[in-house]
Amino acid sequence: MDQHEKRSVSSGTRDLSDERLTEEVISRFENSASPRFKEIMQSLVKHLHAFVSEVQLTEEEWSEGIEFLTRTGHITDDERQEFILLSDVLGVSMLVVGINHRHPTGATGSGEAVEVVGHHGDRQPTHTTEATVFGPFYVEGAPEYQNGDDIANGAPGEPCFVSGRVLSVSGDPIPNARLDVWQADEEGFYDVQYDDLDEARGRGRLRADGEGRYWFWSVKPEPYPIPHDGPVGDLLKAANRSPMRPAHVHFMVEAPGYRTLITHVFAEGDEYLDTDAVFGVKENLIAPFVRHEPGVAPDGKQMDVPFYTMSYDHVLGPDGKEERAQDR
Ligand code: BEZ
Ligand code: FE
Repeated sequence: MDQHEKRSVSSGTRDLSDERLTEEVISRFENSASPRFKEIMQSLVKHLHAFVSEVQLTEEEWSEGIEFLTRTGHITDDERQEFILLSDVLGVSMLVVGINHRHPTGATGSGEAVEVVGHHGDRQPTHTTEATVFGPFYVEGAPEYQNGDDIANGAPGEPCFVSGRVLSVSGDPIPNARLDVWQADEEGFYDVQYDDLDEARGRGRLRADGEGRYWFWSVKPEPYPIPHDGPVGDLLKAANRSPMRPAHVHFMVEAPGYRTLITHVFAEGDEYLDTDAVFGVKENLIAPFVRHEPGVAPDGKQMDVPFYTMSYDHVLGPDGKEERAQDR
């Protein structure tokens, strides 16, 4: 065997069988600087190759997939994030939420999954309110409101009085917790979806009072379709899937020493609760939006049109920073 032959035998990347190809690609990540990067990439290659082999992907299908991802990139900009939408409709976003919010203390790692529940009514909370997808319609720096204000700010819809408390897992109120709220109007649109609107509607920031209570007026949310005029919409259409989400109000709740909660409260009885396009519904995040005839609202306001009330207590877990400091 001459020198030349020896080199070709030891190169290890020629005439690879499908199985050896997978092993070889995995081995190319062996020297990664970050162990976590290595773990993620090696697993990704393993599962991606298994998927391609399982479906025996044709070259045309591979091209179609590349074109789909290219269109997804082209439509994405500062205002539209089609990749997150893709992650949402594939259930990946909710899988990530589930993995990272399984423990009421906010701790991560292996261990028994603990039930987490939301809270409305008079029960004492035992666990943190469940998290769900963030969605693309959050806007930083929304207007500040006081409890009792109307955050609809002219958004079309039937008036709705929203109230509740921010609590710890032991049931104690969390005074002055910060709440960010955003929601669609009766047309199913967020303010940012109107080209001709340059002010916030149906969104705002407020603080719980000294007893952890919050209350504000808005409009009753309605179901709406996720943006479906792009590649993700084409994907849903090809699968005969609905783009609809059940009516909901988004909340982000923050307080020092507690883990930030990103969640929605869904309208009880909504026809899309079991077919949410992004799989975000949890039983404990569903609350009644109760209709009332004209009369006196819970905050004493005289209403001359019918109105709704919705009440929900958000339960925050500790952020775990103290525990982590003690571990060190
Ligand atoms: C939303 O609820 O705002 C939303 C979530 C995921 C995808 C699209 C919209
Ligand atoms: Fe939404």
